[in-house]
Amino acid sequence: MSDFCIETEGLTRVFGALVAVDRIEVRVPRGCFYGFLGPNGAGKSTTIKMLTGLLKPTAGRARILGLDLERDLLEIKRRIGVVPEGLHLFERLTGREFLTFVGRMYGMDRATVATRTNELIALMDLDEKQDALIVDYSHGMRKKIALSAALIHDPEIYFLDEPFEGVDAVASKQIRDVLQTLVRKRATVFLTSHILEIVERLCTHIGIIQKGRLVAQGSIEELRGGAGRGAAAPPGEAGAPTVPQTLEEVFLSFVQEQGVPEHRLSWLD
Ligand SMILES: Nc1ncnc2c1ncn2[C@@H]1O[C@H](COP(=O)(O)OP(=O)(O)OP(=O)(O)O)[C@@H](O)[C@H]1O
Ligand SMILES: [Mg+2]
Repeated sequence: MSDFCIETEGLTRVFGALVAVDRIEVRVPRGCFYGFLGPNGAGKSTTIKMLTGLLKPTAGRARILGLDLERDLLEIKRRIGVVPEGLHLFERLTGREFLTFVGRMYGMDRATVATRTNELIALMDLDEKQDALIVDYSHGMRKKIALSAALIHDPEIYFLDEPFEGVDAVASKQIRDVLQTLVRKRATVFLTSHILEIVERLCTHIGIIQKGRLVAQGSIEELRGGAGRGAAAPPGEAGAPTVPQTLEEVFLSFVQEQGVPEHRLSWLD
């Protein structure tokens, strides 16, 4: 069996004339913490939607946990947890009802679902709102209930689209701790985030997508050393002598290869 628990070949998604994801070859080692980075509109959410069966690829293939995405989608869905871009919550359920519904949907027995629901509600500090309808939750509370739903069945891979966006500092720390525990227990986390400080603290591996092309992939150390550049990188750039230190510098060095155009606001001059 492959050492990669997520592996894509030429994965592509086209919307009309736009190639949102362009023949990407993602390789995620089992048990790693993979940060999928890229500017707004680069194709991160589209990729996550394809890998989790929410959106059909236009071309290409993917294997998740050694299973074929197209042929074995149901089995894959049982073994992954997802926080998608749009959250997709049942607004007319309470938080507690929603978690109970999700747990039962995964075939878990009532007692286990009840125990895990209680623990997740406490962990996410949602006690006060557990019996309120989700439609009345704040943005951060919706994020926390969506994350709880992704955790409840103890999946092997977590696909999390911007899990920290809009979440307060206390919850963010708790979520980070939980995710690190999961990875220590050999689960794999695949997340997108624009908060590079958090990604730097958590992730062991990084993929950088820009305009639909995977421009870099590898362990953080490899990317710091200038390795891992994809086919889309300009020739002659591999192994560039300057060694970026922070993840932000690494990220910017990949997405701003062509130089940064200077934009100004005329009324501020
Ligand atoms: N359903 C759709 N129909 C048409 N175009 C789409 C659709 N979904 C996404 N796109 C386009 O595909 C491109 C990639 O979008 P995507 O949401 O994957 O970006 P992203 O990397 O997640 O960005 P962000 O950081 O802003 O969340 C964008 O140009 C977007 O406008
Ligand atoms: Mg997105």
